[in-house]
Amino acid sequence: PNALAGRHFLKELDFTAAEFRGLIELAAELKAAKKAGTETQYLRGRNIALIFEKTSTRTRCAFEVAAADQGARTTYLDPSGSQMGHKESVRDTARVLGRMFDAIEYRGDSQANVEELAAYAGVPVYNGLTDDWHPTQMLADVMTMTEHSDKPLEEMAFAYLGDARFNMGNSYLVTGALLGMDVRIVAPQAYWPAEEIVARARKLAEESGARITLTEHIGEGVEGADFVATDVWVSMGEPKEVWRERIGALSPYAVTMDVLRATGNADVKFLHCLPAFHDLGTKVGREIHEAHGLDSLEVTDEVFESAHSVVFDEAENRLHTIKAVLVATLA
Ligand code: CP
Ligand code: NVA
Repeated sequence: PNALAGRHFLKELDFTAAEFRGLIELAAELKAAKKAGTETQYLRGRNIALIFEKTSTRTRCAFEVAAADQGARTTYLDPSGSQMGHKESVRDTARVLGRMFDAIEYRGDSQANVEELAAYAGVPVYNGLTDDWHPTQMLADVMTMTEHSDKPLEEMAFAYLGDARFNMGNSYLVTGALLGMDVRIVAPQAYWPAEEIVARARKLAEESGARITLTEHIGEGVEGADFVATDVWVSMGEPKEVWRERIGALSPYAVTMDVLRATGNADVKFLHCLPAFHDLGTKVGREIHEAHGLDSLEVTDEVFESAHSVVFDEAENRLHTIKAVLVATLA
């Protein structure tokens, strides 16, 4: 299963459609084997460093459990627990960790940091989320789509509503384009991905046959969609002060039952990488509720808890897909 031996996993643009699909097929095999109790350990004795400059539940746990299932060990370096970024450069950290570990995962703001780690580590480096891309999340999302649709990817349509200038919007656009899907970005124009990313996606679409739509119009954007996805309106690392602006601009794009009905597809499925503000019962949620008087943000509780929602399959698939990345690059 080592089709991508030694490769980094930094952004979707580094992969061919066949490579991306191969990872999802491997993830499906690994998932089936785990459920059947027949998983083979390909990574015994391997060591993987997990650098998290931002918090995480799913990504960290997926890497740790995937590694453990495969017989590898992990070392977690938390936002304050290493010298990197404070006393030591990314380049030096890469050269040190590369001498001790077989692979390195990195989550932080900067795509340049994860690219620099990859340039100097001498071992595979994985992007566990930057401001620009969330590529391991895309593997889980596409795997979840294949599980919840009988259509081939080229016939599937999905719409992403919300702030599309950040990791999730960028990644959805490029991944849909790579895989030949019908991908719609539905948001106010100011929240569309940067022009150079749209241009890259259009170029990929010429080869893959993907249909790309960027629109402010919700009805046009979601019509016929098999999947509707969204993400938080304020991402990690952004200041609290932007909530007012985001709520003002993006509230019409919240995923409600009306949005799902507008797809015209009774079977439409809802995706969210999580965490989600479907209710405002968390600490941060309560602060937003008090300041802005809302009960939910990017998705209503009704949608989130409905039979349309496949968000926990999506979350589980983080494990199987991250395991596929480890096995494909390290076995
Ligand atoms: N979806 C996702 O990346 O979740 P975490 O921030 O919990 O890792
Ligand atoms: N856009 C979100 C994704 C979280 C998984 C963030 O960067 O915080």
